[in-house]
Amino acid sequence: MPFKKNILCIGAGYVGGPTMAMIAAKCPQYKVLVVDINHKRINEWNSDNLPIYEPGLDELVKAARGRNLFFSNEIEKGIRDADIIFVSVNTPTKTFGQGSGMAADLQYWEKTARQILANSDRDKIIVEKSTLPVRTAKAMERILNSNGGNIKFEVLSNPEFLAEGSAIKDLENPDRVLIGSRETEEGIRARKELVDIYANWVPREKIIESNVWSSELSKLTANAFLAQRVSSINSLSALCEATEADIEEVAYAIGTDSRIGNKFLKASVGFGGSCFKKDILNLVYICRTYGLNEPADYWDSVVRINEWQERRFVLSMLSNMFNTVAGKKIAVLGFAFKANTGDTRESPAIYITRGLIEERALVNVSDPKALGNAREDLKDIREGLEYIEDPYKAAEGAHAIAVLTEWDIYRNLDYKKIFDSMVKPAFVFDGRNILNHRKLFEMGFNVFAIGKTPLKHF
Ligand code: UDX
Ligand code: ADP
Repeated sequence: MPFKKNILCIGAGYVGGPTMAMIAAKCPQYKVLVVDINHKRINEWNSDNLPIYEPGLDELVKAARGRNLFFSNEIEKGIRDADIIFVSVNTPTKTFGQGSGMAADLQYWEKTARQILANSDRDKIIVEKSTLPVRTAKAMERILNSNGGNIKFEVLSNPEFLAEGSAIKDLENPDRVLIGSRETEEGIRARKELVDIYANWVPREKIIESNVWSSELSKLTANAFLAQRVSSINSLSALCEATEADIEEVAYAIGTDSRIGNKFLKASVGFGGSCFKKDILNLVYICRTYGLNEPADYWDSVVRINEWQERRFVLSMLSNMFNTVAGKKIAVLGFAFKANTGDTRESPAIYITRGLIEERALVNVSDPKALGNAREDLKDIREGLEYIEDPYKAAEGAHAIAVLTEWDIYRNLDYKKIFDSMVKPAFVFDGRNILNHRKLFEMGFNVFAIGKTPLKHF
């Protein structure tokens, strides 16, 4: 049976892969092809070892792959055959020139636009999936429609709101799907085509339509608001530690106010992930571009607080371990930026491990899914670092444990066995507040958690 439409996704990463797997699963009438310049990644998508870990992803991919879901490196052919093209390439923070360290680096994305133009011989709908600074769709449209006018490209913005670790759940049952377009007849017609795809499984009232700029800005705003909540609670965690209030009690008390709500109030060692920092810096840069320095400073402070929280964690380890960790073994439990993912982009664990190594500690890094990425992140470190998946082995002979990712397995380890194998006095630094602190203290540990009064035997 011929397919109703050919969908192409350029970029087979954390966003492109899972999103296309869900569209393929829910829309058997469409053919979905995912392409990438990275051959290794595509080979992995075609194998039993997918390039990313996400609960539920294996099953989803296996069910659709070869039926209406395909992965390939043939980008140009993919473009020629496609009716709708999702662009999901990376847009990292610029590391050079104007806007370095803040603005989005659009070089991959612009290359893609030019490649689409060069390989198209009929009208197409282009969907921005990557998080892009506001008004990028306009630039994309300019490049695409610089062909003399015989082929028409309609550019839509359809930001992805999935969170890693729960990507499949988020895609299957999203809070909303946002689709922005030009408000012309053609723009609205293209928007409807995309609405039709999502309407195969998303209730119609959850599909929000808007103009392109609102859609692009909403993505940056959503991430800035979420990150701001984490920085807000983290800033107060320091005050709790100084005053004997308990950050979890405070978070619970304020979270019961329905206007505030109880989500995203978990104090932690800091937020990580590929989106929060990048998107806020992007927002800051855009504000500055328009001369809006106060809003720029306001959002910038969310990132500053996060960096401060990470720094504070290392300093707390240092000062509580008698002002030196040189030559002391420390087990870092968890390297991913959050649980249920192997992703380590912007993970606080990177900064903290580096901080400990600078202090000449001997660090054993442990994580159930992220050790491959950890090795990449820390590949320049030659001494004092080991990667040990088994948390018991990682903690053997250690002076301290630092829990940096809230993996479930760390909640229920045999901490008595761990305590017995450690050097005394033994320390626990719980950067995620997932352990039973009182119980650990009674076992003999000195316990330091985020936003809580330390429990120490000396
Ligand atoms: C985020 C957004 O949630 C998602 O909508 C967007 O599409 C991409 O960016 P993600 O980065 O995958 O998703 O994970 P998220 O669950 O938002 O967590 C981000 C970071 O904040 C993690 O490091 C997490 O541990 C931390 N966090 C989150 C806290 O420290 N405390 C909280 O209460 C919540
Ligand atoms: P995200 O988390 O936004 O999905 P990733 O870095 O995981 O980001 O994925 C982006 C993917 O886009 C990478 O696999 C990268 O190889 C791919 N990519 C970047 N530029 C191009 C391009 N010009 N053509 C095809 N794929 C590209």
